[in-house]
Amino acid sequence: MNTKRLMGAAAATVLALGLAACSGSGAGTETTSDNTNTAAPPAADVTIGVAMPTQTSSRWIADGAAVESGLQDLGYKVDLQFANDDIPTQTQQIDQMMTNGADLLIVAAIDGTALSAQLQNAADKGIKVIAYDRLIRESANVDFYVTFDNYQVGVQQATSLLVGLGLLNKDGSDGDATGPFSVELFAGSLDDNNAYFFWDGAIDTLQPYLDDGTLVVPSGQMDIEQAAILRWQQETAQRRMEDLLTASYSGDLKVDGVLSPYDGLSRGIITALQNAGYPATISDGFPIVTGQDAEIASVKLIADDVQFASIFKDTRKLAAQAVTATEEFLSGGEPTANDTETYDNGVKVVPSYLLESDIVYADNITSLLVDSGYYTADEVASGVAS
Ligand code: GAL
Repeated sequence: MNTKRLMGAAAATVLALGLAACSGSGAGTETTSDNTNTAAPPAADVTIGVAMPTQTSSRWIADGAAVESGLQDLGYKVDLQFANDDIPTQTQQIDQMMTNGADLLIVAAIDGTALSAQLQNAADKGIKVIAYDRLIRESANVDFYVTFDNYQVGVQQATSLLVGLGLLNKDGSDGDATGPFSVELFAGSLDDNNAYFFWDGAIDTLQPYLDDGTLVVPSGQMDIEQAAILRWQQETAQRRMEDLLTASYSGDLKVDGVLSPYDGLSRGIITALQNAGYPATISDGFPIVTGQDAEIASVKLIADDVQFASIFKDTRKLAAQAVTATEEFLSGGEPTANDTETYDNGVKVVPSYLLESDIVYADNITSLLVDSGYYTADEVASGVAS
């Protein structure tokens, strides 16, 4: 186990406020020339609170595990909690983490605006807060944000829809198809800041095709408010797709494609389409459905020619960034941002570290996901992560 030195005035302040008795000798102790003990405790005396939204999605389970093991490898104690997509549960968990002596918080919020009181409390105690994947809004007390380039994720989702319809080739050149194609649009949960970025990236990409009539939306539901799915719930997406089919598709009119911003929603949409009698595979005429997160159940659907694509956001890399930012804060520094303009949370622009994502198609599952060790070939074949 590594020991972690916490040095510098800022760290000393954090420690004085955030830690109980942490004196002693050894690798974690520093003595300055005036003999003041600016000592950092051993890593084993530092606890990181990690708040994740839900265990109903395999992606957040993977995120939680990756953050926990990355921090534990450095010797930190980790208080990892999942909140079952329930806002009061998450606020209570964060309160409890601080009561239990957390020294820093890593938070993937359920509702990005619901944590102001918790974050104020954290700031008062000198506890740094890192927003994980989802921006925490309406608070000055968000110290750093690790995420992906969320607008670009939306661009990739729309691009995969256009590729699936044959309007674009994977190299970005125009495809042979001409349309018109009937598509429906889904968005994420409007209390999640990311939902707007995904939507904006996707709609900006689809707009020329909507404008010239290559793509039509038979339901007419083209506002994010109409397309949104609260809490990113699979069942809600299934119901909305069923309602769209009932209300807007009759006779020969068929759905050609669905923009879906998350694999859980995609599975609900796919179930609705299957129940409505669409052919079993894309090769046989099943609609093009997009996704996000490369969740294992959806990767199998992609391999099985049912879902067309997903977006791979490597949770190992995101977790590693969160761990790096944690170390930088705890050593009294500031994490390195690569974006200081995009993520205005309503009170301030939060310095961010953005990672890149990739489109997963059936033909690159192996190179993107298996060769990188994200999943084994057996997991892809079974659709279950072990
Ligand atoms: C978003 C996240 C997506 C997806 C979604 C539903 O915040 O960026 O990758 O996981 O939540 O969980």
